[in-house]
Amino acid sequence: MLTHLEERLGRLIQPNVVELGNVLKEIVNIDQRITPYVKEPEQNAYGRNVIYQCEHTEIIVIMLPSHCVTSIHDHGDSIGAGLVVKGRLRNCVFKAQTENLAIEKAEYQFREGQLCFYSRGMIHQIVNSYSDPLILINAYSPPLQNTKVYQLDK
Ligand SMILES: [Fe+2]
Repeated sequence: MLTHLEERLGRLIQPNVVELGNVLKEIVNIDQRITPYVKEPEQNAYGRNVIYQCEHTEIIVIMLPSHCVTSIHDHGDSIGAGLVVKGRLRNCVFKAQTENLAIEKAEYQFREGQLCFYSRGMIHQIVNSYSDPLILINAYSPPLQNTKVYQLDK
């Protein structure tokens, strides 16, 4: 799996979200091959494992336990694509109200095998409201930097 990522991503200088998603979709038997890279949660509510990084791209495997959420955050200047490997995903998209506060704007649902795209500047929260863990593989370009966390504007 890592060889595939190195070969494919090494050639992508400024990929768009579709190209990033295609690289993830092309991994054969990903539901089995991802197992050694899935980390249990440690300091965060979810497990996070950076499995590949180069100058232009970064790949992170996320394990979000049942009934857990990520923070509300942006991705700095990066774009990205996420492939749902196991479970189901709710992607809640937010709009910044102030420097640190955001309100929910829309929500999208994804099933196993579906891709979720993260446009530049998007603020979001990933939610697993189901009884099974969610395993997600994310590709970002450029590698994540200066991401920001927001609080919910109530
Ligand atoms: Fe994110």
